[in-house]
Formats: sequence, structure tokens, C-alpha cells
Amino acid sequence: MSSRLPSSPSRQLGTAPGLVSCPVCQARHVPFPNQPSGGVFASQCQQCCHVFKFRASAPTKSTVTFTVNGKQYTAGNEHSATTSLNQFLRQNHVSFGTKFMCREGGCGCCTVAVMLTNPVDGKTESASINSCLCPLFVCDGWTITTVEGIGQQRTGLHPIQQHLVDYNGSQCGFCSPGMVMTMYSLLENNPSPTKRFVEDAFDGNICRCTGYRPILDAMKSFAKQVPDIEDIRTKVCKKTGKPCEGGCSSQNSLHILSQDAQWYRPTSLSELYQILGQHKTESVRLTFGSTASGVYGDLGPWNYQVIVDIHAVKELSTIAVTSTLDVGANLTLANLIQLFFSKSTQAGYSYLSTIGSHLSRVAQSQVRNVGSWAGNLVLKQKHPEFPSDVFILLEAVGATLTIGPNSETVTPLEFLSTDMTGRVVEQAHLPTLPDKTYVRTYRVAPRTQNCQAYVNGALRMRLDKGPSFTVLEQPSLVFGGISKTLVHATKTEQFLTGKQLGDQTVLQGALNTLFTELLPDDDPVFGSAAYKKQLAVAFLYKVKHLHYNTRLAQRVKPEQLSVVSFRFLFRVNSEEDKVHIYAFAPCDLLISCHFVSRQFCLVTCSASVDPKYVSGGNNLVRPVSSGQQSYDTQKMEWPITEPLPKLEAKAQATGEAEYINDIPPIDGQLYGTFVLSTEGNAQIQTIDPSAALKIPGVVKFISASDIPGENNCSPFGAAEEIFCSGKVEYAGQALGLIIAESLAAAEDGARSVKVTYSNVQAPIVSIQDAIDKKSFFPKPGDVVVGNAEDAIAKSPKSVTGSVSMSSQYHFHLETHISQCTPTEGGMSIVASTQFPDGSQTIAAKALGEPVSSIDLSVRRLGGGFGAKILKNCHVTAACAVAARLTIKPVRLMEGLGTNMEMVGKRPAYRADYQVGFTEDGQLNGVKIIYYCDSGYSPNGDTSPTATQFGDNVYHCDNWHMIPTPVKTNCPGHTAVRGPGATPGIFIMETIIEHVAKSLGKDPTAVKILNLYKKGQTTPTGMYLPYCSISDLMTQLDTSAQVSSRVQQVQQFNQANRWKKKGLSVVPVKYGILWEGGYFNSLVAIYNGDGTVAVNHGGVEMGQGINTKVSQVCARILGIPMDLVKIKPTDTLSAANTGVTGGSVGSELTCKAVMECCQMLVARMAPVKAKMKDPTWLQLVQKCFSEGIDLTARYWLFPKTQYEFQYNSYGVACSEVEFDVLTGEYLLNRVDILFDCGESINPALDIGQVEGAFVFGLGFHLLEETLYDPKTGQNITSDTWTYKPPSSKDIPVDFRIQLLKNAPNPLGVLKSKAVGEPPLCLSSSALFALKHAIEAARKDAGQDTPFVLNSPATVARLQENCLTAVSQFVYKP
Ligand SMILES: Cc1cc2nc3c(=O)[nH]c(=O)nc-3n(C[C@H](O)[C@H](O)[C@H](O)COP(=O)(O)OP(=O)(O)OC[C@H]3O[C@@H](n4cnc5c(N)ncnc54)[C@H](O)[C@@H]3O)c2cc1C
Ligand code: FES
Ligand code: FES
Repeated sequence: MSSRLPSSPSRQLGTAPGLVSCPVCQARHVPFPNQPSGGVFASQCQQCCHVFKFRASAPTKSTVTFTVNGKQYTAGNEHSATTSLNQFLRQNHVSFGTKFMCREGGCGCCTVAVMLTNPVDGKTESASINSCLCPLFVCDGWTITTVEGIGQQRTGLHPIQQHLVDYNGSQCGFCSPGMVMTMYSLLENNPSPTKRFVEDAFDGNICRCTGYRPILDAMKSFAKQVPDIEDIRTKVCKKTGKPCEGGCSSQNSLHILSQDAQWYRPTSLSELYQILGQHKTESVRLTFGSTASGVYGDLGPWNYQVIVDIHAVKELSTIAVTSTLDVGANLTLANLIQLFFSKSTQAGYSYLSTIGSHLSRVAQSQVRNVGSWAGNLVLKQKHPEFPSDVFILLEAVGATLTIGPNSETVTPLEFLSTDMTGRVVEQAHLPTLPDKTYVRTYRVAPRTQNCQAYVNGALRMRLDKGPSFTVLEQPSLVFGGISKTLVHATKTEQFLTGKQLGDQTVLQGALNTLFTELLPDDDPVFGSAAYKKQLAVAFLYKVKHLHYNTRLAQRVKPEQLSVVSFRFLFRVNSEEDKVHIYAFAPCDLLISCHFVSRQFCLVTCSASVDPKYVSGGNNLVRPVSSGQQSYDTQKMEWPITEPLPKLEAKAQATGEAEYINDIPPIDGQLYGTFVLSTEGNAQIQTIDPSAALKIPGVVKFISASDIPGENNCSPFGAAEEIFCSGKVEYAGQALGLIIAESLAAAEDGARSVKVTYSNVQAPIVSIQDAIDKKSFFPKPGDVVVGNAEDAIAKSPKSVTGSVSMSSQYHFHLETHISQCTPTEGGMSIVASTQFPDGSQTIAAKALGEPVSSIDLSVRRLGGGFGAKILKNCHVTAACAVAARLTIKPVRLMEGLGTNMEMVGKRPAYRADYQVGFTEDGQLNGVKIIYYCDSGYSPNGDTSPTATQFGDNVYHCDNWHMIPTPVKTNCPGHTAVRGPGATPGIFIMETIIEHVAKSLGKDPTAVKILNLYKKGQTTPTGMYLPYCSISDLMTQLDTSAQVSSRVQQVQQFNQANRWKKKGLSVVPVKYGILWEGGYFNSLVAIYNGDGTVAVNHGGVEMGQGINTKVSQVCARILGIPMDLVKIKPTDTLSAANTGVTGGSVGSELTCKAVMECCQMLVARMAPVKAKMKDPTWLQLVQKCFSEGIDLTARYWLFPKTQYEFQYNSYGVACSEVEFDVLTGEYLLNRVDILFDCGESINPALDIGQVEGAFVFGLGFHLLEETLYDPKTGQNITSDTWTYKPPSSKDIPVDFRIQLLKNAPNPLGVLKSKAVGEPPLCLSSSALFALKHAIEAARKDAGQDTPFVLNSPATVARLQENCLTAVSQFVYKP
């Protein structure tokens, strides 16, 4: 995958009208004024003096005009041809609510709504799009709506915004505007969508905080309660006075000559070909959706001299039914889906619904809304390794393409080798397929949504319906993702022709032919060769299997309910427009549930196939998700324990919440971009910034030697350099900083800096490599209790094993950012930091100035998750140095790539263990070596914490835990939500699973046997007087009917060979560390009106710290919450403040504020005693007049008896359904019971439980960081290759209970911390999958213990099933 490049800078140039080209010398020049206004004109070439005529059939525009939120804007060549709509909106201060992060269609925070004409039905419709991928000049005539345009706090929230608030659908709020706009666009078109329709629309929006459930609930609430569409459609056209329908601009030709490229918009094919003819010698790019640059950076507009927008070429938008279905190149993927479903009822076209369904899984809504099928095919042509879904579908069904200007007809396969210089894809022609033809398509991807497939396949076969299923003609078996060259499995196609598919030997022959024929490429991210081969063969097996078992049954009509056979019950759900098939075993046990489109004929069993194999043919289909939440509240204590929405929720939902990059730039402000090393283990030889310095707008390059003070960005432990001074420790290390007048110029400049290296050596990028090369940091102390080695040796049973975990990226949507402004006395800084004191101190040291000269403040973060504790210090220090050297304000915001490559993450782990136990599974001795990949810096080591959590909830008399940090050429790693605890607990759970499996026992029973009991002591010496884990296990067993569901799972597994279920219960004990949580707070009561301002040392990053502080303050002072205002954290009012992290920021800040309030109450009490029922204001003013100090400050510096103040407890039960043939799964149900004490705000704490759990699902199932072993470069540093959970990766049925009647005697206001502990419960999903795999391995005759490493990706899951082609049969 080539790198994705952000846009080039905007460049200044005078206005230029459209150009004419001389037919002799091709020179382009500006026609004389008034010439190009229609008709034929004569002109003289300004270069060769040739006199020529040209025709201007209509006025050619040189500017684009569009409206945003009802206001008209005009833009011309003062902008670069590469400027995106997002850049325009933000740089011109039109919309700061519209965010950006990845700039590649991978996150959705840039979503806006535009009105587009749909060529399928001719209607003008709203479409959500990624403004980051949309070129500005495409927007001519568009009506654009941003989050500000639909509702504001001042004028009233739009119902969508209000629902997001009411359902607690925002935490850090960075994703919220994008979520709102996706929904807005959907409701504009369909005011009464089904829940499924709503859920499907969010495939392009990432939220890292909430776990999606509250967002989806907020949005799905519109499925039933529909606001008046006219209320939503607020935009009124200034011309007509009617609701805006967009597209009111004339479709005139457009020609903008900007300094970096020429931009054309022809209105006809002939004009298009004329333009292409004029620019034969230049690099020309046609552009439609312009989304391809989100996949491959080389297709970005910045690489071309001439860009031709083909939106207005009417001939490319046609749809016609001739002998084929003819679709113009300008149909978007969304148009195609709509068209295909509408035409699929016509004779010969039933296959269109199959490929339409497939297309709805391609990319995501915002891309499908604007991306064309033709652009997709060209993407495939330019990058043959790309597993284009459009390509396999068109090729398999036998479509042809018309290529202009000479109307050549080619197949999609022939198109791949067609020279497209000066040519255009005009149409695709989809044939009718004869009776008895079956089309089945498949795609299996690492993530359910918005993800490239490992392998995709489209298979077309014509079969005789008779019992032997004869293959009547050569089938078409098309695969993507196998290799650059493989398209058809030709040998298998030939093998099958004329054969009888019902014959099991034919089946085996075909599968073996395919297995031999395919020679897949290994891809570290998108699947090993072995897995890809297995998938492709499974596709064929599935399709044969399906056909062999299919016979045409009656067509089911809506609302029909009928028992068709003793095995299947069909019911139509009209809301979902789907047929639900409930499959019943003879014992009437519900064993599976599938959804099929209403148009399909239904499936029933063939007596000749073993029923156990039937489910192999069906793909897993995810039902609409739902959630339940249950918690206690103590009304007497309100607003404490009241489930209130976040204070900032309205500002977040309306886009008014200001993040640092939304602060309007200060006059003269500069921008910085880091220059990163491309080698992982080398010496810098030279750094040459000369090419960068020539780029307009680039001001300066700074490196290590320019730092006035210390070249260190680590506030603790070993020094870490701000800029590398010579020895490169990892690829991605900061070598210097380019400073420029715009972000785009800074990014261009950073790419242009030339660096040479000497002494280049192979980097160490894996733990195994580090162990082999003995690359260790000094070992922290072992934890030793009893004699583990001896106990293991003397145990009747023992096992040894090893388990690994990958490094996890924080994926905070707001990347690292700081803004530094030199001031009279020093430096003013706003920084996205969880540790203001650390960033302030490090900046001062880098500048060589007193800490007191630095004023640092932080209002909110767009997510932190630990990244912004230590790692913001790096960004802030570099930014401060840049500001000091240029004496200008500097903003330094890391692009996603820099953020992922330069900054450390959760360390990868490997644990080697030995365990001794009794015949029952009681632990006797446990020995674990924790290898922690700390990266290049010892500061990244979290292995001591892993040992603190290593026992999880299990008692054992003998422990030996050995923390072992290894040194690699990776970034210096850092804390990520649940640092150390997450691997520590997962390792112990793996051990218990191993013990249970080796004994053939139920893992839950072995867990219960070993649980801590009240009064026992942990390996770190903590006495457990309040351990409630046994009670939680019992309660969850009842509330989640665990025991009965285990039996159902077993029955399901006995009845099915290719689908398996698994269920796992994981308990967690999570120690809450108070020491080091020092927090300053200040509460001021104003005598003017009695309002209260609070400044505290905690940082609001989505967890709701400000809301909880407000609740506490209001409660203790006895005033309404709206009198309380929380101020941004700053390093004067909250000097020396600790880290907001480790789950304790909220409770300790609340405690500090509580102390302040109690001081104030005490001071005011004597005055109050002298008054008779004073109002709050009367009391305040009386106190003021009597000289009472109405400001209180408190410094909290906790000391605790044990290393942890107390433990949080929780239990989760996860149930999955798993496709043995592909590795895909559904997380069908998750029940969590979590002990939050007496929650200060249960609504927010439920959000923390859900968000943390889904964060953990990412760690355990999806997110893998991979490095190039040759250079050490991170090869998963973008949204294409790194996949955090999306909205369909969450549990289908997600039930959260906060433990009731559980006041915490050791907590703040009886509460317990919640930010991190629930993350560790998410391993239950991994273990549920492991149990499903165990069932599959049992069927494969290999029921042996195995360890499932994290993340258990789809590929890894399938690979563990030990499936072989020989097992792909109809009958055992
Ligand atoms: C986040 C994301 C996820 C994606 N996921 C998938 C996926 O899962 N599966 C998949 O198959 N694809 C996927 N894609 C690719 C997506 O389908 C394509 O980017 C899109 O269809 C391209 O259409 P476009 O109109 O935006 O093309 P553009 O970006 O406008 O153009 C792409 C190329 O096609 C050329 N071109 C466009 N139209 C014509 C024409 N009529 N004649 C000749 N040349 C032309 C352009 O010159 C350019 O070189 C994804 C893309 C993104 C951004
Ligand atoms: S910034 Fe546009 S999708 Fe991420
Ligand atoms: S609230 Fe969605 S990313 Fe933070």
C-alpha cells in the first residue's frame, strides 16, 4: 500500500479566466476579455502568433460557488486545486465543528451533508460525505450543511443533537459532529428509517470513547419517533423561498488555473475528450468522488498537472435497459446499490440483488455516496493488488465496459491491461443471466465495516436443477486479494465444467484443484498465503454446499408465518424488510437465526447431506444491536448519584466545543510538522532541508542543535530526545521540525527534507528477536510468594505455555497538539495534555527558562487514553522551541501517520508460564515471565504493573512473577487504558483456561474454585477485607442465565460442524492506585451573584470529570448545578497537579473539590447561623460583607496503606457464534456486572464501562501493530491498516449492570473508579471464541489445549481451527 499524502498547500495567484489552447504549439493563454461568451471566436496565439478560431459554446466559469449553511461562498484560484472542502471550511472559519483526523475516509469526523442529484430516480437527495476527501472545486453549485447549520445552543438544538445529548452519546465529543451529520443526511432522505437502516449508516464513523451503543440508541430512537421532515430541512433557497434542493447552479464548463494545477469541468463527452486531447503530454487525472486518494496516496490530486472533474458530463450519468443494463460511469456505489435492487425483480437480473448486497459492504456510506464504480475499477487497474469488490462482481457476472472515445468494448479483465491515456470509462453493461444461473459472492475482512477484504470472491455457476447438479457451462470463479495477477481460478472452472456437483468426489476434486491452483501472496496485514488459500477454497465449498442443499421453495410474502418443514420456521419482519429463518432441531431447540432478503427463494435440507454440515453454507448475518443498562441511584443524595448528561454534551453535539485546533489562528501564526526517521537502527549522516526551505511558505527547519535548553521530553525516568541528536533508535523518531506558514506547507516541507544514514543495522522489532539478541533493560524486582518452582514440581498436574499480545495504539481522534505563543514574560501554551505539570516543566527545560515563565492550560481533550500523559510533553517541547526560535505563535498538530509512527503505544507482551495444580484444578504454584516490549526507552516498561495485576482474582500460595522489559527499535512505549493490568489479567486468564482444558473441566468451574475469598491476601501483600468477586460471579450466573446457556451452546455445537458457539465468563479484580494522584483545586464563590467557579487539576477528556465535580460542588454547597462553572485546567490555579489517568482522576478531583467546598461551608456556617433562612445569594453577600474569604484551595496528596487504595470488581459473560470456514464471528451477547460502588453519576459510569469494554475488544480481537522487519517502519500507521472497533464490532446484545447496594467504604463518596477496569473484561470475547474453536478442533479430531494470542483476528481465529480441505465434504 503506498503512503497516503495529505494535500499540498494552498498557493496564492491572481485571478485567471478560462484558457484556450493554440492548436499548433499547444500553448495555453487567456483569451481577450469578453471572448469566451458563446459562439465562434478568433484568437492569436501569444506564443507562436498562429491565428485560430475556437468555439465557446457556453460561458466558462473560473470560480466555484456553493452554499454552506445557507450562506453563499465563491472560491477560485486563490485556492490550490488540491484544497479539500474540509480545508476550506476550517481555514475560512466557516465550520470548526467539522473536524478532521485521518484525511483518508477512515474516521468520519469530517462528515458533512450535501445535496446531490441521484441519477437513478432523478431526485435531489442529501448525502453524507467525507469533507476531507472532497476537492473544493467539485463543490460548484452544491448546498452543504455542517453541524453548525442544523442547531446551536443559542438557537436550539436539532432533534438529532438533542438525542445524542439525552442518550449520553458523547464522551470526548470529537466524533460527535460527524455522527450528527451522518444521521442528518439519512433523515433528510428517509424520515422513517428502520433501525437496521440507521445502524447500517454508521459504517464510516469511528468513536473511540463510547463503545457506540449510546450513539446507536440515540440515532435509532428516530426509527420510531420521527421528527417532522420539514423541521429538519431548515435550509430555504434564497432564490425560490422553498426548501433547498441543491444543485441550483448551472452546469457550465469550468476552468480554474491555479498555480499547482489546472482544473476543468467539461459538460459533455466531446468537451471532455477535447480537454484530454489538449493535455496529452501532461499528467491528467479525471476526478469524480476523489475518494481513491483515501486508499492510495499516489492517486491524490497533488500528483497531477491537470484535473478534470467529470460530474457535469451528462452522458456518463445515463442508465438504460437495452439487451443489457447499461450504467454510466458516474453512478456512485450508492446509486448502483439502489439501481440493482430495483432491477433485480426483472427476468434474468435476480443476481443484481446479490451483488447489490455485496456492494453495500464496500467501503462506507460516505465513500459509497460519492465514489463511482468506474473510479473503483481504475483504482484496481492502477494497483492490481487491490482486492476491488466492484471488479470481481462485474467480472464474475460477465459485464462489459465501453471505453471512449472509440467505444471499445472490453471485459473488466481486459480493462486491467487497457491503456487509458486520454480515454474514459463510459459505461458498464450488465447482462441478463440465463435460468439456472447462480451467483454467490463473499468477502471476509479483518473488520466488519470499512475494511479491505482479506479475500473476496464472486462465483457464477449454471447448474441443472436435477439431483446431481450438473454444471452446465464453464463457471466463473473470480477472486480478489490472492495476488496481483490472479483473477479467475481457470483450472477449477475447467475442471467443473460438465461435472456433477452433487458427487462428493467431484467436490473434493474441485476443491483440491482450487487449492493447488491458487498461489496467494503473503500479506502481513491482510492475511497469510495459507489463510487466503483456505478462504478461497471455503468460498467454493460454501457455494457448492449451498447449491447442493438448495431447492426452490415457495416465496415468502410479508407477514407470512409458516412452518415449512420440521426444521425451519420462516417469519417476515416487515420493519427490517427481511425474512428471518429460525432453524429448529428436532428437539425444538432454537439453534440458529438467519436473515435473507425477501426476494430469495428459501433453503431447505436435502436428505443426502448430513444436517450437521448445512450451516456451513450460510454467512453470519448480524441482527440489529440493542443494549440494556441497569443501576442504582440514591435520590436523597442528588445531584450526587444522579444519572445526569455531561455538562459539555450540548456543545459537543452542536460542534461548538472548542478543541485546540479549533482555536482561530493568531496573526502570524506558524505551523510545525515533524521530520521522521525512515530507518530504525542507524546513525544520522546528513540532514538536508534545502529543498523544503524552497517550498513557498516554509519558514525554518529546526533540529537537535537548535534546542536552547535540554534535549529531553521525558518528565520521568530515562531521558528521551526531542529531536534525535545522532543515533536513531527507531523508525519514526523525530529528527527535526519544519515550520511554515500553513499546515500544508509544513507537511510538504517535512516530506522534502533529505536524510542520509550511516551504520544502518537490522532493527529489533519483536520480543523474540530481542530475547535472541539479549536486548534487555535492567530487570525490576520479581514478585515472590512462597516457592512456586517447588510447588509446581510437587503438583500432581502441571502445564507450561506461552501467550502473546500485540501493541495497541490509543487512537484518540484528536491527535497530539500544542500551541505555543511567546509572551512578554515567557510562553503561553495550550496543550492536549493529561499531565499539565509535566508538559509545562518539560517545555521550560527545553527552552532553558524557569518553569514559572510557562503558562499552560487545557480545556478538554479529544480523547487521551493515556497517550497524552507523557507523550504530549514531546509535542509541547518541540512546539515551544519552535515558538521561541521564530518569536511567533506556533501550532504543532501531528498528522495521524506521525502520531502512529512517532509516539509510543501499549507495549506488546509475551508471557511464558508454568503452573502446578491439583486434579481439581486448584492452583498450587504459578511462575510467569512477563516480557514487555518497552520500545527503545526503559520508560515504556509496564511489566511491574503487569505483576501487580498478575493474580487477577485467583488465590495461590506460591507465586513467582518475573517482570522482564526488552529493548527494541520501536517507539518508547507508554500507558494505554489499563496499562500493565490488561496484559497481566489476560495472561492469568489464559493460564486458568489452560489448566481447565488440560483437565477437561469447565473453565468457569476452575475459576470459581480458585477465587479470592474475603480476608485473603494478594501476592503484593494487600489484605482483602471487602472482596466481592464470588458474589458477583453468582449474581451474573443468575442474571445472564449462564449455566443454561452453556448447555444450549453445547447442543448447538453438537448439531453443527461449520458454525460453532462459545461462551466465556471472565472475572476481574482491578487495584485502584491513589498514590501519585496529587490534585490541586480551587473554588471561588462570587459575591456579585453567588455563582461559583471551580478550577481543578483534572483534565476533561470525555470521562465526565467536570460533570462529577459540578455535582459534588453543588451538593456540598447546597446550590443548583447551574450556578457552578468549571474552568479550564491551568498550571497557575492548579500548579503541580498530577496525572489525570489510572481511572482515579475523577474521584480524586472530586475529593479535592469536596474539601474546598467543605472549607467554604465551614467558613460560612457562623454567618449563616446568624441569619434566618437566607437565600444562597443573601448568605454569600453577607459573608462577603463580613470579610469571609469566599475562595478555597485544597491540595490532595493521598497516602494509602497498601499499594492500592481498594479494588474494583467486575464479571463479564460473552457469547459468540463463529464461522469455522472463514473465521468470522458475531459477538451475540455480552453481560457485564460491574462494581462501581455508589456511582457519582451512573449514566456516565455506564458509558465508561461500555467504552472501556469495546476498547478492549479492539485490543483482543482487532488491533495489531506491525513493523517492517527490514527498516523497523510501522506498516500499520493509517486507518486502512489499523482497525479499531467500528459500530458493528460491538456486542449484538449488550447488557450492563452496575452492582446495586454496594457503597465503597474506601472510596470517594462511596464510589469506585471505572475508567479502566472494564477493559480487562473484554478478554471474555476472545475466550468465547477460543471455546468455539475448541469445538471445531474436536470435530477435526484434534481436541488438544492451545493458546489463543491477542488480538484474535479473523485470520488467526480460522487458522487455529485446524481445518483441512479433506474435511470439506457433504457427509462425514
Ligand atoms: C475509506 C475507503 C474504503 C474503501 N473500501 C473499499 C472496499 O472495501 N472495496 C473496494 O472495492 N473499494 C473500496 N474503496 C475504494 C472506493 O470504492 C473507490 O475509492 C471509489 O469507488 C473510487 O471512485 P471515485 O469516484 O471516488 O474515483 P476518483 O477518486 O475520483 O478516481 C479514481 C481514479 O479513477 C479515475 N477515473 C474516475 N472515473 C473515471 C472514468 N469514468 N474513466 C476513466 N478514469 C476514471 C481517476 O482518474 C482516478 O485515477 C474504499 C475507499 C475508501 C476511501
Ligand atoms: S478526516 Fe475525513 S474520514 Fe477521517
Ligand atoms: S466521543 Fe466519540 S471519539 Fe470521543
